[in-house]
Amino acid sequence: MASEHIIEEKKQGQALITEQDALNKKKVYIESYGCQMNLNDSEIVASILAKNGYNTTHLLEEADLVLVNTCSIREKAEQTIRKRLQKYNSVKSINPEMKIGVLGCMAERLKNKFLEEEKMVDMVVGPDAYRDLPKLLRTVESGREAVNVFLSKEETYADVTPIRLNTNGVTAFVSITRGCDNMCTFCVVPFTRGRERSRDPESIVKEIKELWKNGYKEVTLLGQNVDSYLWYGGGLKKDFKKASLSAQENALDFAKLLELVADELPEMRIRFATSNPQDMSVDVLYAMSRHKNICKYIHLPVQSGSTRMLKRMNRQHTREEYIELIDKIREILPDCAISQDMIAGFSGESEEDHKETLSLMEYVKYDFGFMFAYSERPGTPAAKDMEDDVPMEIKKRRLSEIINLQMEHGLYRMQQFIGQNVEVLIEGNSKKSDGHWMGRNSQNAVVVFPKGDEKKGDLVKVKVTHCTSATLIGKRV
Ligand code: SAH
Ligand code: F3S
Repeated sequence: MASEHIIEEKKQGQALITEQDALNKKKVYIESYGCQMNLNDSEIVASILAKNGYNTTHLLEEADLVLVNTCSIREKAEQTIRKRLQKYNSVKSINPEMKIGVLGCMAERLKNKFLEEEKMVDMVVGPDAYRDLPKLLRTVESGREAVNVFLSKEETYADVTPIRLNTNGVTAFVSITRGCDNMCTFCVVPFTRGRERSRDPESIVKEIKELWKNGYKEVTLLGQNVDSYLWYGGGLKKDFKKASLSAQENALDFAKLLELVADELPEMRIRFATSNPQDMSVDVLYAMSRHKNICKYIHLPVQSGSTRMLKRMNRQHTREEYIELIDKIREILPDCAISQDMIAGFSGESEEDHKETLSLMEYVKYDFGFMFAYSERPGTPAAKDMEDDVPMEIKKRRLSEIINLQMEHGLYRMQQFIGQNVEVLIEGNSKKSDGHWMGRNSQNAVVVFPKGDEKKGDLVKVKVTHCTSATLIGKRV
């Protein structure tokens, strides 16, 4: 009965989309760069545009509108996007009616400069202005340029149901907070995404229930700093203390949100990213330990193992405090995987500081890592006050030492699974072979195994027989 109901709902959902599709005459081509939140924002954009005459297309050449959702985090990310803009413009030279819009962080950072200097785009839209797209498009269609880079105190797109782009039909992203108040000195995000605000828990649960009905089996709750989530009826996180006493008393923090979602959807797998060490509470760890459906994986960027560097970076914790947090995770969640982000060669980093990063890595033995050479970003506190004084060759050498060590640790962690039975959610075909499934275990390790009678979206037990530094290989039990 329940499953019939779901199938019926699905049919209705499809019928609705088809009706909408049939009415839409124009085509939008959307490309996304950068973080998972950008991917999710593009899905929100697709949804807003679907109600305003646009269906998505995978073919750049047939697009009436090309949108690129951009990333500013490192200089290289921006260079990649400039190259793409040149490509779109070469297509536009054949199809002059085509419009080009820049969305996201680079739009926010460069604002009007895009129109003034680059002459490569018709529209510039910051991450909080997507609701304004229909109006901006009307301006553009009438032959004028359009800009909205207003950063909002409220916008969370709570009531927009994202249209899932490039989806595997099994896993989906759900945004829960926007912006970041942490002001790490190297980071451009607080400037491009504005102040922190949280999304209404009801709308979060509603979206996830909808995903479940449509066959999704795993969600990742997204925010620049998810542990800082705080719902007290709306408004900026920094204004919480100004809220009424009853609003403060009834506030819902991230640990409570996790429990709420895990209880309401006991079979949905739940992940979250990103955690900031200074904001992560023990309550979150206990919530994870109490719920089997919350995956045992924490992405816990640290950036450096040296307290001196952490201080220069304005990270609000020391090396020792971070280690304490790691110890707590190991104690409360013994089977939890942990991953890092590291920056090599930040301003003022000495060889000694770098060695402290390596020694912290030895202590934690991270399961995964995302590692970068420091890239100075205009407008950040570091760009204003600190010299980018570590020569590129040294940054690169330190980065490769960090990456090599991470590969060793990744392999070590993977090897611990050999001989074990792990629970795997099947996401689709293995990249290398159609005869194999690919999925992930709770710890976020990729698992590959030969196909049998199971299907995509099934949760199955796999015995791990061998591994590489990034993949577990096994067979069903
Ligand atoms: N809280 C965010 C972090 C966004 S930035 C999140 O949701 O992931 C992602 C990572 O990029 C950071 O953790 C940091 O390691 C790296 N990064 C940020 N600014 C950088 C810079 N100027 N140069 C090099 N790496 C940077
Ligand atoms: Fe950036 Fe630090 Fe926030 S890395 S996104 S300012 S937690």
